[in-house]
Amino acid sequence: MNKTLLNKIFYTLLPFGMMFTTATLKAQEHNIALGTEKTLLVMQADAQNHLHYIYQGAKPDSGSDQSVALLAKQSGSDFTGMYNSVYTSGGSRNLLEPAIAVTHADGNQSLDLQYVSHTLTNPSPDVQLLKIELKDPAYPVEVTLYYKAYYKENVIEQWSTIVHHEKDDIVLQKFASANLYLKSGSYWLRQYHGDWAKEMQPEETQLTHGIKTLDSKLGTRADLFMPSVFMVSLDKPATEDEGNVLFGALEWSGSFREDFEIDPDNNLRIISGINNYASAYHLKPGKVFETPPFVYTYSTEGKGEASRNLQSWARNYKLLDGKGSRLTLLNNWESTYFDFNEDRLKELLKNTKELGVDMFLLDDGWFGNKYPRNGDHAGLGDWQENKAKLPNGIAAIAKEADRVGVKFGIWVEPEMVNPKSALYEQHPDWVVKQANREEYYMRNQLVLDLANPKVQDFVFHTVDSLFIKDPKLAYVKWDCNSVIFNAYSPYLKQNQSQFYVDYVEGLYNVLKRLRAKYPTVPMMLCSGGGGRVDYNALQYFTEYWPSDNTEPIERIFIQWEYSYFYPAMASSNHVTDWGKEPLKFRVDVAMMGKMGFDIVVDKLSPNDLKFAKDAVQNYNALKQTIWQGDQYRLADPRENSVASIMYVDTNKSSAVMFNYLVNYRYDQGSKLPVRLKGLDPAKQYKVEEINQYPGTEAVVKSQDTYSGDFLMKVGIDPNVDAGHSSVVLKISEAGK
Ligand code: GLA
Repeated sequence: MNKTLLNKIFYTLLPFGMMFTTATLKAQEHNIALGTEKTLLVMQADAQNHLHYIYQGAKPDSGSDQSVALLAKQSGSDFTGMYNSVYTSGGSRNLLEPAIAVTHADGNQSLDLQYVSHTLTNPSPDVQLLKIELKDPAYPVEVTLYYKAYYKENVIEQWSTIVHHEKDDIVLQKFASANLYLKSGSYWLRQYHGDWAKEMQPEETQLTHGIKTLDSKLGTRADLFMPSVFMVSLDKPATEDEGNVLFGALEWSGSFREDFEIDPDNNLRIISGINNYASAYHLKPGKVFETPPFVYTYSTEGKGEASRNLQSWARNYKLLDGKGSRLTLLNNWESTYFDFNEDRLKELLKNTKELGVDMFLLDDGWFGNKYPRNGDHAGLGDWQENKAKLPNGIAAIAKEADRVGVKFGIWVEPEMVNPKSALYEQHPDWVVKQANREEYYMRNQLVLDLANPKVQDFVFHTVDSLFIKDPKLAYVKWDCNSVIFNAYSPYLKQNQSQFYVDYVEGLYNVLKRLRAKYPTVPMMLCSGGGGRVDYNALQYFTEYWPSDNTEPIERIFIQWEYSYFYPAMASSNHVTDWGKEPLKFRVDVAMMGKMGFDIVVDKLSPNDLKFAKDAVQNYNALKQTIWQGDQYRLADPRENSVASIMYVDTNKSSAVMFNYLVNYRYDQGSKLPVRLKGLDPAKQYKVEEINQYPGTEAVVKSQDTYSGDFLMKVGIDPNVDAGHSSVVLKISEAGK
C-alpha cells in the first residue's frame, strides 16, 4: 500500500467537505474516504490489502469526537475478517453472501480480491468519482469499483467492472453492482410489491438474521411484481421528517436481485445487482463486463429529505431533460380503445386544442393490415398504418394536428410481437420462445430477441420510421406489455445463460442509437402500467407511466409511493373515467405530476369542460413549481383520512398544496390544520384556493397574508370533507 499516496488523496478530499483533523489523518493513513455534503463513506485496507468498510452514514461535524480511528474499532468478532468487505468475493475465506463469484478457466471457484490502487477525480464541480482497483493474487482477474458521489444531492452511484486475462473464458456466477455495509441496532426494510394496476404497494418489516431477498426473474416488464427500489431505516422506521434512512435502487431494466443479510455481528450487508438466476455469464479474456449502477442516498432527517435528494439528483443528472419542460396531452386510449378512424382522430385533435393541452397522443390500434390491430390479439410487430382506419396514413393526422395547432405523439410497443402478425410469420427466429415447447403468452404476445443485433436494428427502425411518417413527431409512448416466458434466444444458441443480460444491453443499444439521432424528443416509459421504471431507462425517457390504474384514490397511493424515488415531472398522471369521483377530484390528483387527459372531451358537460380548461391554465401557471420545486409530504394517506402534499419552488416564493379525501366513511375530513413545510419562516404568503368547480364557493377563503412561520407551525385547514373532497391551495409570497 502506498501510504503517501493515500494520505495525499485523503487531503484532496478536503475541498469537497472532509472535516478530519491532521492528527486524525496521521493515525489513519490507510483510509479511503468519500464524502458528500452530509454523508461519509470510509474504507480501510488491512495488512493483507483486503479493503473493508469501516464507516457508512452521516458525516460527523468538524471537531466532533468521532474519528475514523474510533470508527475502525467498532468491528466485532469476525471469523473471516471480511464481513465488511467492500466487494465480497466468493470461494475463498468468505462465509457470507458474495457480491462476486466466478469459475475460472481451470474450473477453480475461488476468488480473492486485494486492493491495488485508487484514484479520485472530479468529473464536474459537484461530482467526485472514486475508482478502486482490486485484483486476485492467484488468478489474473481484476475488478474495478466505482463510487460516484454527488455532493449537494447526497447521492452515490456504485458499480463495478470485471476483466480477466486467463487462457479461456471464465464464468461470472454472481456479479453485483454494489456491496454496502451498515451498522445499527436494528434495520427496517420498506419494500414494494405489485401486479397489474396494483403497483407500489409498500410493506415494512424489521429485518432478522439471515438473508432477505428482493428480486425479479421476469426479464422484461421486470418490475411487475416488485421494483428494485427500497428503503432501509436504522434503529426504528424513519418517518417523513425524522430518522436515519437509506433509499436504494438498481439502475437496470431487467431482472435484479438484492440481498439484505444481517451478519453474525449484527451488521447489515446489502448486495444489489443484476439477478444471476439462469445468468451465469461467460466472459472472454480481455473483455470488460460492466455492472449497472446501484444508486442510493442516506438521510438523517427521514424519508422526506431522502426523497428530495433522489428527486434533485434525478433532475440534475439522470432523467432525460430533467431541467426542461414537459407536454400536457390528450390521449385516446380509454376514450376509443382500438375503435377509431381518421375522422374520429380529427375530432380528437380539435378537442385537444379546445382543452388547451399541448399535444394529442394516438395510442394502440393504428397499425397492422394482414392482421389488423383491432384488439390485443393481432398485429403487434406490423408497424404500417392500418389502411381501413387511416387511409391517408399518420402523415394526414400529423398535418391536421399542425393545422389545428397542437403537437402529435404516438404509441408503439416495438419489443413485442403477436403470433398473429406478418412479422412473426416472416421472422420466427426473431422471437423468444422454446422451439420444442408450447408457446405461452401474456396479453397474447411474445417478446422479440433483442440479444440479436438484427432485432435491435428492427426495433430501432420501427421507432425511426415514426419520424419518417411524421418528421415533426413530438412524443413517443414506448410500451412493453409482456414478461419473458420460455426464455430462449435463437441468436445466442449455446450461450443461453447470457440471454437476460444481453436482452437488456440490446435494449440500451437501441435507446442509445435513438437518442443519438433524436436527443430530446420526449418519450414515455410504459410497461402495461408501471412494470418498468428505473434510472437506467430514465436516461432515455422523459417520463414514466406509473400504472394503468387511474382510479384517483388508488392513484394518490400509487403516486405517493413512487414520489419517494422519482420526481413529479416524470410521473405521467392522466385524468380518466376510472372511479366515481367528480372530474375536479380526478384533475386535482393528476396535477401532482405531469398532467394529461384520457377522457371523451366532447361528452363533457359545459361546467366540466370549463373546469378542465381552467385547470389546464392553472396547471400551466404552477407546473414549474411542481416539476422543479421541492416536494414535501404533509399528511400520509395511509395514516389519515386526508392526503396532503406540497411543492415549493427553490426561491421559496411560490408553492402549491394538494389535499384529497381518501376515506369516505361518515364525517371524515380534515379536522385540524395541516402544517406546511419548506417555506421561508420570515416571508409573508398569500393563500388562495384554485381549481374551484364552476358555481362553487371557495372553502379556504383568501384573506390576509400569513407568515411562513405561522403556516409551518400552526398550519392551515384545507377544509376537506365529503362535500369538498379535494382542495388545491396556491401559496405565493405576498407582493410577488
Ligand atoms: C398498456 C398501457 C396502456 C395502453 C395499452 C394499449 O396497457 O399501459 O396505457 O397504452 O397498453 O394497448
